[in-house]
Amino acid sequence: MYKIVRKQMLNPSVVLMEINAPYIAKKAKAGQFIIFRIDEKGERIPLTIADYDRENGTVTIIYQIAGKSTMQLSELNEGDTILDFAGPLGVPTHFEEGIKKAAVIGGGVGCAIAYPQAKALHEKGVSVDVIAGFRNKDIVILEDEFKAVSDRLIITTDDGSYGKKGFVTDALKELIDSGTKYDVVVAIGPVPMMKFVSELTRGYGIKTIVSLNPIMIDGTGMCGGCRVTVGGQVKYACVDGPDFDGHLVDFDELARRNSTYADKEKQEKEHYCRLMGGIRNA
Ligand code: NAD
Ligand code: FES
Repeated sequence: MYKIVRKQMLNPSVVLMEINAPYIAKKAKAGQFIIFRIDEKGERIPLTIADYDRENGTVTIIYQIAGKSTMQLSELNEGDTILDFAGPLGVPTHFEEGIKKAAVIGGGVGCAIAYPQAKALHEKGVSVDVIAGFRNKDIVILEDEFKAVSDRLIITTDDGSYGKKGFVTDALKELIDSGTKYDVVVAIGPVPMMKFVSELTRGYGIKTIVSLNPIMIDGTGMCGGCRVTVGGQVKYACVDGPDFDGHLVDFDELARRNSTYADKEKQEKEHYCRLMGGIRNA
């Protein structure tokens, strides 16, 4: 059993949890993920590791309350336990030697995964510009954390209610066009965001790493659920990734595959909400 040692709502639908998992905390590296299961009937849900504390033996996850399982997890509190917390899974992000300047782009809740990448680069002595994009001011997360690991932080909001108005791609283009030279761009967020960042950087010939979030089941390369096409080749995000070269990823296929169970997930969530509503009103 894995104990929740800290819980914090980062915005009304994004939750941070620190989980006591000393063996994972000991080995975890930026870019890797865990799979959790709340109880013996629970779904297996992958979440990228947002942070870890080797000394205290804790692993931080940050997730959006999107479906039944994340809703169920969000109802647990400090001191509660979950049944399974397996990891670290996946290949850690590999940054080549000699990188001097990097742009780390986070989109919405994807910022939770962009943060450890920015931190890892910063700790290597790389100069890091972070661009973090959100729909509006009310859902901005991790601003102080990003400030601590970057040389420049640009927050964008789609509606202009905070920071710079526009998408992350607008801010990135402006920085590049004003003469900032990046050795690498890391982009993590919704699939369209990663696609359009990659299309932008392709034109400038800047290496771009994306972290893919396909449907996963076993997380060990057995089920094929996380199949993605990269450079015309079949890859499995759980064992070959989740990081890939953004210029080679077939994002349209990823978007199609990710929407396969959208209706079923919606039904499950609605059923759970009705059930819980009934229990609370009983
Ligand atoms: P969102 O839709 O609010 O977008 C966040 C930001 O991304 C926007 O503010 C904008 O700056 C940028 N963006 C979005 N669409 C864009 C486009 N077409 N072109 C350029 N920039 C664009 O994000 P959200 O609702 O917080 O994110 C939820 C999505 O992120 C879910 O689909 C989830 O599956 C995905 N996600 C991905 C990862 C990952 O590992 N890649 C991790 C967590 C969440
Ligand atoms: Fe099953 Fe990757 S999650 S092969």
